[in-house]
Formats: sequence, structure tokens, C-alpha cells
Amino acid sequence: MKILKIIVVKLLKFFKVFEKNRRLNFEIVFRLRNIYFHFYNLFSFKKKLSDYLNIAGSDKGIKYFKMYNILPELIEQKRPTILEIGIGGHSAKYSGGKSLQALMFFYKRGKIIGADIIDKSFLDRANLETVILDQNSTYQLNKLGKKYKSFDLIIDDGSHFPKHQKRSFEVLFKYLSDGGVYVVEDMRSSYRKGYEGNPDLGKGNLVHFFTELSHAPNSEMLKSKFLKKMKNYKNIELICFFSGAVIIKKRIKRHKVVSSKDLNQSFKSFDKRKTKQGYVVLS
Ligand SMILES: C[S@@+](CC[C@H](N)C(=O)[O-])C[C@H]1O[C@@H](n2cnc3c(N)ncnc32)[C@H](O)[C@@H]1O
Repeated sequence: MKILKIIVVKLLKFFKVFEKNRRLNFEIVFRLRNIYFHFYNLFSFKKKLSDYLNIAGSDKGIKYFKMYNILPELIEQKRPTILEIGIGGHSAKYSGGKSLQALMFFYKRGKIIGADIIDKSFLDRANLETVILDQNSTYQLNKLGKKYKSFDLIIDDGSHFPKHQKRSFEVLFKYLSDGGVYVVEDMRSSYRKGYEGNPDLGKGNLVHFFTELSHAPNSEMLKSKFLKKMKNYKNIELICFFSGAVIIKKRIKRHKVVSSKDLNQSFKSFDKRKTKQGYVVLS
């Protein structure tokens, strides 16, 4: 495997002779990586998403190593529909798509959609579609959601402006499938004024916004005045904070939530074991 990697890396460097023809250069590098991924899929038994991201050249595999190895455990769908906001490469021609390529090979039976404010249609393949989208536009986000109906995984790696990240989450959460997972990356911008964040942890700080939602997994225990505040998010099952990122998972409907009232009923005969805590049981 190591020898193959050395050969491929050498070939990639060699083909830089095509630098003048950016499209050709991109296609060659992309296809060589595809070949490498095919071999990797054949010979690697412990599949780690971070390895796929590293091979594709995305910094996610190092920056969010732990998070991206936990993530596949949380996704129930065998053929997930995945949306990533932020394809990469910004306005550089024929540049970007590294994380999309990794996801494409990790989820070979999935459908991958990349959204970027810049046209990245040169990346379009059989199971990889790109769309032009401004993640700060409610109209465009809804249009995207309506087109694909639902997503099993949404990754926000776009502008990194907390205001944009919040808008995307607020609009797209309703298009997240039951059991679906939403990831926001690069949330350190929430503490930076240059990104219109708020170091004082008020409005503008997205980490703070999500900490307020941290009661949502216990929504059945909340007083109505608190529940009102998070009515759109009461079906959140999990919120997990990482350094610079957050994972939110939507509850699966068949995971019935037992309220403390119901519990108290069923525990009537076991008075000593009465509890105020809610439980989640599989029906
Ligand atoms: C950090 S890069 C994404 C890297 C890529 N996900 C990866 O891991 O390889 C950020 C991308 O977000 C795009 N972007 C910036 N502002 C945006 C916006 N308002 N809406 C959608 N995409 C945006 C940029 O064009 C850029 O390509």
C-alpha cells in the first residue's frame, strides 16, 4: 500500500507539467486519486473517514480527526444523501472538491451534493452533484431543500460567518432526515469580531446559540416557556461540541420519548423508584 502511495504521489507531482491547462491538470489529479481510492477500498479493512479525507487532501482529517471518525457511527442510512456547503478552492479555477471526493468514496452508495457560492460544476460526476448557493440566502436554501427533499448528513464548511452558519442551520434543519446529522465547522469565528462573531458570548456567537439548544435532547422535561423558545428544535437527540465544531443529530421518530408523567404511572407500584428523569426507549 505504501509503495502504491509513493508512486501515486510521484505521478501527481509529475503531472504538474500540465499546470498551464488547469482543467486537464485537475482531471488528471482527480482521476489518479480515484484510482488510489479504488485500491484503498479493496485493501483497507478498517475504514476511517479521517483517512479518506487525508488521502483527498482535505485538512478536515487532521483538524477534526476525532469528529470525522465518530460521525459515520451516527449516520443510520446505508445510502445517505449528503450535502456539504463549501466545496473549496474559492475563486481559483478548477480547484476544490477534496472533501467531496473523500465522501464519495467513503459512501460509495450515497449521493453527494456540494454547494458553493462559486460555480464548481466541473466536479459533477455520477454520484456527485454541485449547486451554486449563497448559504446566507433563505430563499436559495429553501429551494435547495425542496429540490432534494431531505439530507442524511449536512456539513457546513462554507463562509464561516456565524450569521451565515446560523441562517443555514435554521433553514436546513427542517430538511434533515429523521436520525440525520448536521455538522458546523470552523466555529471559532464565533469569537472573532472580524467574522462578526461575539467574544462576549451573546448574539453573533453561534457556539452560544447551540449551548442554549443543549436542553433540546431533554425537551419533554422542559417547562412550556422554555419549550416555546426551541419549538423548532425539540426533536434534537444529540448535541456534541468539539474544538471549533459541533454535531447535531435529529431524533428518529420511532424512538419514543417517555415523559416523567408516564414513567411515574408505570412506577406507581415501585414508589421508591419514582424518577423525574425522562427515558428514551426503542419501540
Ligand atoms: C474552506 S472552503 C471548503 C473546503 C472543503 N469543504 C474541503 O474540506 O475541502 C470554503 C468554501 O466556501 C465557499 N463559500 C464562501 N462563502 C460562501 C457562501 N456565502 N455560501 C456558500 N459557499 C460559500 C468558498 O467559495 C469556498 O470554496
